[in-house]
Amino acid sequence: MKAFDIYRYDPEAERNPRIDTFEIDLDDCGPMVLDALIWIKNKVDPALTFRRSCREGVCGSCAMNMDGTNWLACTRFISDMSPSATIFPLANLPIIKDLVPDTTHLFAQYEMIEPWLHAETPVPEKERLQSPEERSQLDGSYECILCFCCTSGCPSHWWNGDRFLGPAALLQAYRWLADSRDEAKEERLDTLEDPFRLYRCHTILNCTRTCPKGLNPGKAIAEIKKMVIERDS
Ligand code: SF4
Ligand code: F3S
Ligand code: FES
Repeated sequence: MKAFDIYRYDPEAERNPRIDTFEIDLDDCGPMVLDALIWIKNKVDPALTFRRSCREGVCGSCAMNMDGTNWLACTRFISDMSPSATIFPLANLPIIKDLVPDTTHLFAQYEMIEPWLHAETPVPEKERLQSPEERSQLDGSYECILCFCCTSGCPSHWWNGDRFLGPAALLQAYRWLADSRDEAKEERLDTLEDPFRLYRCHTILNCTRTCPKGLNPGKAIAEIKKMVIERDS
């Protein structure tokens, strides 16, 4: 058996959030924390609410805080959890119910960086080509699954989340700045060159430590700052 302390919040109940403890029969359950949550929902409490889709670490929907660290429930082994295992929703976000945060604001910030190709040159007959070297510039950013483990863990975003774009959106901003096919580098840098949107990153690097895909948003943000300096010098 294994015990999990899980954060519960029901917006329709007139009571404060609480912690529920569940005992999981490990002989009857898969090896991942997401398996444990599904086991609880199926066998003990159908009201337990969480997001999940792919179960393979590629959709980003099961991001939550486990034993104090943001990660994906479907890629965290139960055996790696502490004896007094805790599961909370991602921090610093409004909670819709139990382990489900409201990410509306984070996706609005993502939309602000215009995460699509801007190109004025006519569309070629087949496709816009890249050399292998140009394509390799996207490594380390295109893999982002927008789970927001990083932005939820960033103290600068806790303090100025209304105006600082946060590491997830800025990593994606870098992904388009680094794309040889994109023709809006100047406009993208104009949008980012702002005391809050970009420069509220103080290189705390919680983002890089917590990314479940092994990405480095802190480095990408530093690269954007470098691009701004090189452009303005
Ligand atoms: Fe998630 Fe990593 Fe992308 Fe941040 S950079 S949203 S932690 S995959
Ligand atoms: Fe936050 Fe990462 Fe910068 S944790 S302050 S975005 S390096
Ligand atoms: Fe898709 Fe966990 S269910 S990343």
